[in-house]
Amino acid sequence: MPHFRLAHLSDPHLPPPDLRPGWRDIASKRLLSRIAWRRKRHRHRPEVLAGLVADVRAQAPDHVALTGDLTNFSTPEEFAAARAWLEGIGPTEAVTVSPGNHDALVRSRGDDPFSAWREWLGDDPAEAFPKVRVRGEVALINLCSAVPTALHLAQGRLGEPQVARLAQVLREQGEAGRFRLVLVHHPIAEGAVSGRKALTDATALRAVLAREGAELVLHGHAHEALVTRVAGPTGAIPVLGVPSASAAADGHGEAARWHGLEIARAGDGFEIGVVARGLTPGGGFGELGRYRLRSPARR
Ligand SMILES: [Fe+2]
Ligand SMILES: [Fe+2]
Repeated sequence: MPHFRLAHLSDPHLPPPDLRPGWRDIASKRLLSRIAWRRKRHRHRPEVLAGLVADVRAQAPDHVALTGDLTNFSTPEEFAAARAWLEGIGPTEAVTVSPGNHDALVRSRGDDPFSAWREWLGDDPAEAFPKVRVRGEVALINLCSAVPTALHLAQGRLGEPQVARLAQVLREQGEAGRFRLVLVHHPIAEGAVSGRKALTDATALRAVLAREGAELVLHGHAHEALVTRVAGPTGAIPVLGVPSASAAADGHGEAARWHGLEIARAGDGFEIGVVARGLTPGGGFGELGRYRLRSPARR
């Protein structure tokens, strides 16, 4: 298998097209979120994001995985703006989006809240989450943990039907010998984030991963670089989180970064080379470091 080169970025929090609240926002979670955005807007900079996207494009990855929070208030205007932005990342079949909690802030768009991003969620619009995209020996397994939550919460939830389908998908793709790459917005390791921000059914997800296995899990949401592990049937499954793609280097949290992953078969498992690229002290984008991860061997 030649190396499969994947770019992982997350949490761009694209600048809202219009910050003035409309009447529908009064007394809604969106209004409170807008107030929070006024405090945080200087942390997410469009020029930083543009620099990061240019850096990703210059590395010409085979695929781009985006683990959510493209928007801030999940308004229709933001969804349209995010769509235009996504079109600049790469062809739809080479870019996969897993929605974040900010993309599902309020319940307002009926049964298919992410229809504006349909082409980036998976290959089959009729397929429920997790949506599967097979690219060579890699199966991208796209979960959706984005659900509307109570005020001041940033939790996520997969729900029983999605967890049950995930078990089936992991088994099928494992039997096909593919590299199972799971995408989800929320961190999945125990204690990775506070309860207020946590995936509420992470225990059920970890139980499925422990039984069926996966080769790698990628997430966002924490706005920091995290390397954790969860149990798999034959060894620990690596779990990687990446900081926000638009975060300024201002001392509030980690500056913008993306991860370039090189996936290759090695013995009875896979090896993953990780190159972290991000904002450097000089203000441009460059390499911050590199390391290798090993996926557990197959049974
Ligand atoms: Fe975020
Ligand atoms: Fe988030």
